[in-house]
Amino acid sequence: MSSAGILFRSPVERGRRIESEFASAVLAGLRHQPKELPCKYFYDEEGSRLFDLICELPEYYPTRTETKLLRDKAGEFAQAIGGDVELIEFGAGSLMKAGIVLKALRNPRAYVPIDISGDYLRGMAQKFAKEFPRLPVHPVVADFTKTLKLPQSGARRVGFFPGSTIGNFTRPEAAAFLRRAAVLLKGGGLLIGVDLVKDPAILHAAYNDAAGVTEAFNKNILVRINRELDADFDTDLFAHYAFYNPAQQRIEMHLMSLEAQRANVAGETFAFREGETIHTENSHKYTADGFRALAEEAGFTPKAVWTDPDRLFSLHWLEA
Ligand code: AVI
Repeated sequence: MSSAGILFRSPVERGRRIESEFASAVLAGLRHQPKELPCKYFYDEEGSRLFDLICELPEYYPTRTETKLLRDKAGEFAQAIGGDVELIEFGAGSLMKAGIVLKALRNPRAYVPIDISGDYLRGMAQKFAKEFPRLPVHPVVADFTKTLKLPQSGARRVGFFPGSTIGNFTRPEAAAFLRRAAVLLKGGGLLIGVDLVKDPAILHAAYNDAAGVTEAFNKNILVRINRELDADFDTDLFAHYAFYNPAQQRIEMHLMSLEAQRANVAGETFAFREGETIHTENSHKYTADGFRALAEEAGFTPKAVWTDPDRLFSLHWLEA
């Protein structure tokens, strides 16, 4: 994901009204009660590096479970999807996962990764060209949470949205994304990875790893705000706080102020009470049936769903 940040070097610049999307989102989130920050801003260069480390952690089961599921069920989903499709990836996250799908599909016509970061997409496209030299790659620089216009190639469109990134949307956002995807992918479908509701102890461990990588990932958003928005957060005065909220079926990540304090961000001062939190991320979990119902309401026809033997993670094939 791209960095939407700007630098404020001079006092004149500092005082000026801030126009960047990142700045407006941060200021709006910190003015909001309770305080919150959009999780999409985790992914600057360091945040992306930390997220890659999270995916390798022993406690963080989603990545390895989904990857194994994709490998184990490749024959089955390839048969359900059929041949001669173009694969449209929402977010262009992992060469490895898209590679498994493309190798499984019969005669894929093209790979269309959609990402907000042009630089990231260019890097991905180069790596793909090496691994799939005969496969046309058509990167699209766009925000896939908004309505998309894609070039008409004539091939059936199959969407790919792995990693349970849909879990980071609120339920209304997830429903809206699925409604737009059902229109975009009409005649084809969506292969989507969704994390499942499970023993809260497993979820708690996954978001509170012993090595403290998730803590660093969470706090990095303050480091980024300090760097890009001339802010002065003391990251040692905030604690990583992640817990499962069963009523909402989601992990919530927060940064908790360890004492009464103030922080300045782009010329504005924010007061924190001791114990007050900034809500930084939701990671919703679904039951397999609950997700199928959501997809059906959004206009898909849910077909196959695959889960691992421990029912940690699910992979859905939804026809559009
Ligand atoms: C990207 N997303 C699906 C991850 C998740 O599990 O919600 C982000 C993450 N946050 C903390 N650990 C991983």
